[in-house]
Amino acid sequence: MKEVRIGLLGAGVVGTSLLQLLDKNREKIQRQYGINLQLTAIATRSPGKLQGKTNVPVSDDVLSVTKRSDIDMIVELMGGTDTAYTAVRSALEHGKTVITANKALLSEKGRELYAIAETSGVEIGYEAAVAGSIPIIRTLRDGLASCEFEVICGILNGTTNFILTKMEQESWDYATALKKAQELGFAEADPTFDVEGIDAGHKISLLASLAFRESVSFQTVSVKGISELQSMDIQAALSLGYRIKLLGISKRSSAGILTKVHPTLVPLDHPLANVMNESNAVFYKTKEADSGMITGKGAGGLPTASAVLSDIIYYASRLGSQNIAKENNLFPEGKRFPEPENLVRYYLRFSTVDKPGVLAEISQVLGRHNISIASVQQKESTSEPVSVIVVTHAATEGEFQKSLMEIDTMTNIIKQKTVAIRLLENL
Ligand code: HSE
Repeated sequence: MKEVRIGLLGAGVVGTSLLQLLDKNREKIQRQYGINLQLTAIATRSPGKLQGKTNVPVSDDVLSVTKRSDIDMIVELMGGTDTAYTAVRSALEHGKTVITANKALLSEKGRELYAIAETSGVEIGYEAAVAGSIPIIRTLRDGLASCEFEVICGILNGTTNFILTKMEQESWDYATALKKAQELGFAEADPTFDVEGIDAGHKISLLASLAFRESVSFQTVSVKGISELQSMDIQAALSLGYRIKLLGISKRSSAGILTKVHPTLVPLDHPLANVMNESNAVFYKTKEADSGMITGKGAGGLPTASAVLSDIIYYASRLGSQNIAKENNLFPEGKRFPEPENLVRYYLRFSTVDKPGVLAEISQVLGRHNISIASVQQKESTSEPVSVIVVTHAATEGEFQKSLMEIDTMTNIIKQKTVAIRLLENL
């Protein structure tokens, strides 16, 4: 039987779940794939925490594991881009296949690491890095390989989807929902990565690169998170027929690729609107296969570990094969579409005084910037400021930004910064 010796780096929520899954599936993997997976060494920040949980030697010396000649594959579940970078680099340089759930690392330093992998003739598996248990990496690479993608987008962060769901359905405030997501093990070590859209930015850059076969690095993604989102906008959007979701979006036209993350008003009858809690979903539009969506758990120990184990099995069966395809994602840099030229629709909530002529002044500015109003709503209120909610027709992002800057300086009528949330583009 083929023996594959594994070094595990990191034993947090996902790492410890992987230990469980390896034990549970050992015989099945031997029977079905003819592979004996041998966990040979573990390195983790706090080796004491694993005492009594495994018979495998545990240390805190990551590089002593990546350099061992009796290890074939390194599974990196530490996260971060410092020690993880040094470790993955060392593993690749020492000729080990690497399986990682580290989206930040690949999104920021992927090109360098893929190049080392290619030189060493080894592979990097990262199914667990994007959308947890959804097998989207291999779907893009293999299942939809013949398709020309126009759009790939999705709900790519479980923590923020959980927060948005609980704020809407349980009326929890933002802080309570975030705390619960952390307790459940969904959040990143630094939860600002989740709530500020950085984690989703890392993930959409990886998906866009694979879908378009062009390198889309995180540095080119424009990112806005949910930390400023207010419950009243979640409720107002619902009453207008939309649910607010944090989406990662990447689209390609002849003018280039535009990739971004932002809260988005999704029509309630769109499949993305009904993906709740920590679930993730990836929606795509292609020329050949039209559109589709895959959904599943996007965060948490077992769902993520299940994707890690699926990568371990897949890449273990390829180890030693003469026919390792160039899967290392060294795609050419593509052209970027300038975001100010992108056509978008906006939900705008103006906080205004309740006086004659206010609406006229606001609509005058919008009109001067070629922004047409689709609907206006104001609820009667006895106290100021009042909320005037405008949903617009499409105009360029650049004109929206200019008009909002202008409107927010009209402090005689505008009393708080205008809330501006984009609507889902034509999908
Ligand atoms: N913090 C991430 C999330 C974990 O909430 O989706 C999975 O990458």
